[in-house]
Amino acid sequence: MSEGAGRDADEPGDAIEPTEPTEPTEPTEPTEPTEPKGPIEPVEPAGDDVGAGPTEWAQGQPAGVGPWPGALPDDPRYDPALLAAGDRRNVVDAYRYWRREAIVADLDHRRHPLHVGIENLGYDYNIGTIVRTANAFAVAAVHIIGRRRWNRRGAMVTDRYQHLHHHDTVDSLAGFAAEHDLLIVGVDNTAGALPLETARLPRNCLLLFGSESAGLSPPALRAAAMTVSIAQFGSTRSINAGVAAGIAMHAWIREHADPGSAW
Ligand SMILES: C[S@@+](CC[C@H](N)C(=O)[O-])C[C@H]1O[C@@H](n2cnc3c(N)ncnc32)[C@H](O)[C@@H]1O
Repeated sequence: MSEGAGRDADEPGDAIEPTEPTEPTEPTEPTEPTEPKGPIEPVEPAGDDVGAGPTEWAQGQPAGVGPWPGALPDDPRYDPALLAAGDRRNVVDAYRYWRREAIVADLDHRRHPLHVGIENLGYDYNIGTIVRTANAFAVAAVHIIGRRRWNRRGAMVTDRYQHLHHHDTVDSLAGFAAEHDLLIVGVDNTAGALPLETARLPRNCLLLFGSESAGLSPPALRAAAMTVSIAQFGSTRSINAGVAAGIAMHAWIREHADPGSAW
């Protein structure tokens, strides 16, 4: 088990080994005949009329900020290199020019008692997506069970700000959960699962997702105190694990987070 936040993902010695993008190709299904489509309508730029909301929502602006204008601040949270060169990172405005360690330290005061786990049985490309979403929702930690290597393309470097733990087995994850007073909630569309739409999620919660190929393993299902499923209405058996994780994390956010503390 190891912490991942606060260090460069490509620093030597990281227990969770990030891998460079080589997305596994999904088996292709025979293409169905498509209906002729009209032209794609252009999206109108929002211009100045973007309404109230976080500054991150403004459109048409170059990403980030340029060099700090005027006299330089001496707050130790600021990074002299970013003050001098500008900050083009994908961080919220509140953290502009901040050192990464200072951002992680601040996030540690904002994190929710929500953890997420994902079984990494087949080099799952969804893990990066899940890490990024977990970062956005200030999840306490992401747990990767099984293989150490994971495809970090979808994480968009958010793994640098997120605590990551590795567990060789579900038993190890279950030990962590017991030690930290977390209830494991399996998320899968298996028999006996409660509908996520009406279920109540525990506050101290570890949402556990299965691998894209196999779903939650039998040990994972046994470790879960309850299992929830996301209602589907179409023909596909399941949705993408990264999407399912986003939906489930947001269900917890709706139930337990304070919207007033969002950016
Ligand atoms: C692609 S699914 C595979 C397994 C699925 N049980 C099946 O029957 O094919 C991979 C993972 O995405 C999540 N998932 C996908 N669809 C879901 C749904 N409708 N409800 C809950 N979780 C879902 C679960 O964590 C699942 O283990």
